[in-house]
Amino acid sequence: MDKITLHGKTFRPFIKNEELEGIIDDVADRINADFAECEDVPILLCVLNGAVMFTAAVMKRLNFNVELCSIKLSSYVGTQSTGTVLMPIGLTSDVKDRRVIILEDIVDTGNTIVALKELLFSKGAKDVKICSMLMKPEVYAKPDKIDYVGKEIPNAFIVGYGLDYDELGRQFKDIYVIDAQ
Ligand code: IMP
Ligand code: MG
Repeated sequence: MDKITLHGKTFRPFIKNEELEGIIDDVADRINADFAECEDVPILLCVLNGAVMFTAAVMKRLNFNVELCSIKLSSYVGTQSTGTVLMPIGLTSDVKDRRVIILEDIVDTGNTIVALKELLFSKGAKDVKICSMLMKPEVYAKPDKIDYVGKEIPNAFIVGYGLDYDELGRQFKDIYVIDAQ
């Protein structure tokens, strides 16, 4: 794995695909255990665009029926959270009386995930679980529990496996961290 350059900034290798696959096996095992033999069909909610790869990877490991739904949210500009959560695409399914499992790429301040949880309950969701591939506990500032976390990482800006720097870098199968400027 070599360094990559996106919009003039360099990023170095951080989490290899093999490790990510193991992290996702783990998360999926925990979800399967909690939803084993469920009689309803929970909604798997992909937070576009970042969670696209993670959602596909988790979904193919699940051993109960799910319905896939998406929403597009964004709060980052460049390498910084703006604190304002925009919703360029709303929920693609009705969540009323349904159990929802949110799939997110990374939880940072928690603004996105908490706003989404509130939206889902306001639309009548029966239960909401949050599953995030990665989390930055140093900056997380909300009381809400993140039900399934793949891996905790330090507060650094990363790209790859769906995560972007101003829309670039999503296609890499490994994760890269920004080099000190
Ligand atoms: P939060 O609302 O501050 O928790 O930020 C979460 C959202 O910001 C995620 O859905 C990501 O899309 C994005 N984000 C947070 N940290 C990073 C990062 O290190 N790289 C790329 N995107 C990030
Ligand atoms: Mg995202």
